[in-house]
Amino acid sequence: MSIPSNLKTAFCCALAYTVLVAPCCAEDIPALFSTPTTTRTEWEAARRPQLIAQFERTMFGQTPRIDASNVRFERLEMSQDLLKGTACKQKIRIHYTVSGSTPTSFDVLAVYPKTAKPVPVFLEMSINYPGAYDETLTTPCSYWPAEQIVKRGYAALIFNYTNAAPDDAKAFFDWKAKTWKQAETPNTAPFSAISIWAWSISRVIDWIATEPAFDAQRIAVVGFSRGGKTALWAGAQDPRVALTISCCSGSGGAKLIHQALPQSETIEHLVTRFPHWFTPNYAAYAHREKEAPFDMHQLLALVAPRLLYISSATEDRWAGPEGEFASCLRAAPAWSLYTKTGFTAQTFPAANTPLHDASIGYHLRKGPHLLTEYDWHCYLDFADRHLK
Ligand code: GCU
Repeated sequence: MSIPSNLKTAFCCALAYTVLVAPCCAEDIPALFSTPTTTRTEWEAARRPQLIAQFERTMFGQTPRIDASNVRFERLEMSQDLLKGTACKQKIRIHYTVSGSTPTSFDVLAVYPKTAKPVPVFLEMSINYPGAYDETLTTPCSYWPAEQIVKRGYAALIFNYTNAAPDDAKAFFDWKAKTWKQAETPNTAPFSAISIWAWSISRVIDWIATEPAFDAQRIAVVGFSRGGKTALWAGAQDPRVALTISCCSGSGGAKLIHQALPQSETIEHLVTRFPHWFTPNYAAYAHREKEAPFDMHQLLALVAPRLLYISSATEDRWAGPEGEFASCLRAAPAWSLYTKTGFTAQTFPAANTPLHDASIGYHLRKGPHLLTEYDWHCYLDFADRHLK
């Protein structure tokens, strides 16, 4: 006897629901909206600010605030004859001083097509993976395929995260004490490294807005792994990020906290190995994930109604791909408040079948924890379709 195709589809949906969503029991996961009938006005005036405050308090700490007059841009290098004369390159240094503290700076590299019209931008915060990027563009590099990005009509900007703030607990706390003296408001959660890296992304966007070569309305921010966690926090807070792209961000990133997946990272792992990434309050949820009054679909929803892209990898069990996908499903209703379609997928996709038809893009790449050329093709295709 053959089974009718609508029954097969219903069975597949039920199976996917059981595998992906049910393990974290719908009722355990904190709601996205304060009431099921939330409107856009209520979301913007009340729920959204409440969720930002919640992520500051429980995960990332307060976002540093300094006056724009304390930030300055210095051009270190400019050349017009890159990539056989088709592209330009600039290197800039962003200087800032917090009152009473040691001045500091970090560098940004920009490569962009030589055109009369301002171009959209891909800004990456690079983490220290071997061969993460080559400033001379002579060695092809999958973490930052600048030449491909430029050929597709985008500017490729990059900065190294440890140049912006150290990624070692002791070095970070020492640096913060020297550089950010008196900048923290008492009685609020202390800044974390992720909050400072996300703040640095926003300072690069300040520079982008001053440069006529770039279209500041069309900025994509890209991050991989810990950089992907940071991209989400930057995209949630800075409305100038038109497309937030988070690759393999896992726990502390896109993966749902309430969804325990056997081989994936826990809060205990995160706060033990990387105590500086988060504000100290986050450690309270180690071994108590199910009691967390928040979850990561709420962070993803803070990007709405702007574009979001989450990608996972089949062998990246540590990041929990199913939990990254389930977060997208649960964040999608925030886009409906703006009469946009958040996500059309219902079931976990097969590997290498990108989902690009809604405001949240998603793909599951075959392979391990990496940022590859395939990922970049998908991001650029999604940007061609929705951002250009
Ligand atoms: C570790 C960490 C992850 C993180 C990754 C990375 O594996 O446990 O949470 O995403 O490093 O940033 O490379």
